Amino acid sequence: MARSGPTPTDGRGATGATGRNAPQGVVTRGTTNPNRLRRVDNWIATTCGDLLRDAVDPLVVDLGYGASPVTAVELRARLAALVRPDVRVVGLEIDPQRVADAAPAADPPGLTFARGGFELAGLRPVLVRAFNVLRQYDESAVDPAWRTMTGGLAPGGVLVEGTCDELGRLGAWLLVDGTGPRSLTLAARLSTLDTPATFAERLPKALIHYNVPGEPVHAFIAALDDGWRAAAPYAPFGPRQRWLQAVAAVRAAGWPVLDRPSRWRLGELTVAWPAVAPT
Ligand SMILES: C[S@@+](CC[C@H](N)C(=O)[O-])C[C@H]1O[C@@H](n2cnc3c(N)ncnc32)[C@H](O)[C@@H]1O
Repeated sequence: MARSGPTPTDGRGATGATGRNAPQGVVTRGTTNPNRLRRVDNWIATTCGDLLRDAVDPLVVDLGYGASPVTAVELRARLAALVRPDVRVVGLEIDPQRVADAAPAADPPGLTFARGGFELAGLRPVLVRAFNVLRQYDESAVDPAWRTMTGGLAPGGVLVEGTCDELGRLGAWLLVDGTGPRSLTLAARLSTLDTPATFAERLPKALIHYNVPGEPVHAFIAALDDGWRAAAPYAPFGPRQRWLQAVAAVRAAGWPVLDRPSRWRLGELTVAWPAVAPT
């Protein structure tokens, strides 16, 4: 079971410098892709839309945008179109070169870029999206990173932390607030979904090492996979019909599914965290 990766230490920045104001975390691979985060962005716009609409200062941080700022640009565009036009997105990166490279894409006040880490550079956002960031850290770094990020949120704010494949066809994320994780969401492009078992490879860092017999998340993915197989007769009607049946079976089996068929139709499934939390 591989658990390797850079280990962040408080106050240790990209250059290895230490200090009270240094960004917290370490530079990791900057892989990203246009449109990769569309599924989580659309979920944020729906699930966290009211939170942003009610905020006096609709500030959102995209933490760890990578070698190109494209997904931060897209997040701002989506939230401005779907939630409120005056949303402010700040892309934070721990790599100073990536901050400099992103500068031409800035469009203040709606979109700016700055150097920062888990401490959020002293900002108080109502929402943080941190995607494909913790995946490259040790598992032991997850809880402290969550605590640091949620400790920097505006009152009532949330962190959306997760992982996806290179093209964004398969993703999984957690909604985390000051009390800890609240839910796990799985999302797939259904036309390319072979079997729900493939979600196991894309689980957030907090869960990816627990897809083993005896662990709740393993049982959850197995239940979804069973439901998908049992729904094979629906395949001729398209993968959406098959997914709807599979999710309905998961819910009927007693899993605390939090979302409704309108989200299932998009290839999503959200379940309450306590049901999948590692034992
Ligand atoms: C794989 S890229 C993810 C890019 C983009 N979020 C995506 O999902 O396509 C991870 C980025 O996170 C940055 N990163 C890692 N730890 C960080 C931290 N603590 N604070 C800010 N950025 C961080 C890395 O430097 C890297 O550029």
